[in-house]
Amino acid sequence: MKQKKLLYAGKAKTVYRTDTKGKLIVEFRDDITAFDGGKKDVLKNKGSYNAEVSAFVFRYLEENGVKTHFVKMLDPRHMVVNELSMIPLEVIVRNIAAGSIVRNYPFKEGSKLNPPVIVIDYKDDSRHDPMLNDDLIVALKLATPQELRKIKKMALEVNALLARLLAAQGITLVDFKIEFGRKGKTICLGDEISMDSMRLWDKKTGESLDKDVYRFNKGDVMAIYNTVATRITRSKKKR
Ligand SMILES: Nc1ncnc2c1ncn2[C@@H]1O[C@H](COP(=O)(O)OP(=O)(O)O)[C@@H](O)[C@H]1O
Ligand SMILES: [Mg+2]
Repeated sequence: MKQKKLLYAGKAKTVYRTDTKGKLIVEFRDDITAFDGGKKDVLKNKGSYNAEVSAFVFRYLEENGVKTHFVKMLDPRHMVVNELSMIPLEVIVRNIAAGSIVRNYPFKEGSKLNPPVIVIDYKDDSRHDPMLNDDLIVALKLATPQELRKIKKMALEVNALLARLLAAQGITLVDFKIEFGRKGKTICLGDEISMDSMRLWDKKTGESLDKDVYRFNKGDVMAIYNTVATRITRSKKKR
């Protein structure tokens, strides 16, 4: 498969067309950003750690009946995916209160959210990703009510599957963000699931195992990404 024209260069990944119709190559770059682009760095190997975890998680979700865009890895940082017509929603599922939900609402950091809380933001950097509600999503024609129901159902399925996978490795899934798109009429999970898009805490120590290490200078970001990638992908032997 040949990498062709650049389609989109985002904050952390670059998407290319290929010589095969409907297939794209996603390159996971070493760029890392936080705080709406206010903090930026290049961290060697970050892209490949995130790609490895994403590929592993997508395969696991597919095995468990969740439709994703994942096709295969070409090398440690290039993933072949099915082209989706992306829906500009950031679907966030929260199991424990942390991050913006604690800043914006009277939740105590670390308190359990049971049932999990789904928050959906409008993926629009120029507007700083404002929070949406169901009526706004439908009024803006971002998704139909049926699609929205499907998206929420899939988000909760991904949550349950991911939480179980991570718990087996001593990792608590605090929250995560996913993106969806359409392939024809079918809603598929797209984008990535990685240390940049999940908030993970070590079950024993409570230590951050994700981008919070970068956001809040909590330690050696790449050493932690490396360890977490190994821990997560090791779980295949236990399944
Ligand atoms: N299967 C797919 N088909 C088309 N676009 C995709 C697919 N998966 C992810 N994308 C899009 O590719 C881009 C990935 O690059 P990223 O650096 O994450 O961008 P951003 O800064 O917009 O978040 C995102 O805009 C994402 O919505
Ligand atoms: Mg992104």
